[in-house]
Amino acid sequence: MASSTLSSVTLSQLCSSKNGVFSPSQALLVKPSRTHVVGKNKRMRVASMATSIPADRVPDMSKRELMNLLLLGTLSLPTAAMLVPYATFFVPPGSGGAGGGVIAKDALGNDILVAEWLKTHGPGDRTLTQGLKGDPTYLVVEKDRTLATYGINAVCTHLGCVVPWNTAEKKFICPCHGSQYNNQGKVVRGPAPLSLALVHADIDEGKVVFVPWVETDFRTGEDPWWA
Ligand code: FES
Repeated sequence: MASSTLSSVTLSQLCSSKNGVFSPSQALLVKPSRTHVVGKNKRMRVASMATSIPADRVPDMSKRELMNLLLLGTLSLPTAAMLVPYATFFVPPGSGGAGGGVIAKDALGNDILVAEWLKTHGPGDRTLTQGLKGDPTYLVVEKDRTLATYGINAVCTHLGCVVPWNTAEKKFICPCHGSQYNNQGKVVRGPAPLSLALVHADIDEGKVVFVPWVETDFRTGEDPWWA
């Protein structure tokens, strides 16, 4: 086994100080790179990692603070640019309506204008629109060709299927398990345990605005289960 022997000169340069104790700070001042013989036939370059740092190459404090500010700014802008859309994802879409309501949208995503709607939807009509939180919601046209002051949430209270309006039966009949609701969304046959949820259908500047219904359910005389 070759015995590795660093020259006594090198070892003394790396590990000695005036008082015989190794000092890292002093090691920084040691000149690098010398070639030393290690073993019989091998030559190995033993280079000290310690180098001296010229004083004029150490940035002063004000430069370091400026660099830190630049780095912070560089990182902050793209981070904010990513976080803002992420945060707005969790905010409900702007309503444009009063009292926390949302403007009703048709199947194409357009605002529903009452006058235009009533031209093409006759008495007794129940057509799906986009309501609160994006829930499918029926707009109801009364017999006198006016818009009902309530909308009916189309999500079945059994397991959440969207319940279609059956014009011939004049009922909402769920295709999933056969629950039935009358023309105002009151449950008349299970397994659905509850009536369909209600929303207010207000009119604001000619547009239909859905507003949460938190009052008594006029169909049952009970507190609204969905509020
Ligand atoms: S989901 Fe409507 S009856 Fe089951």
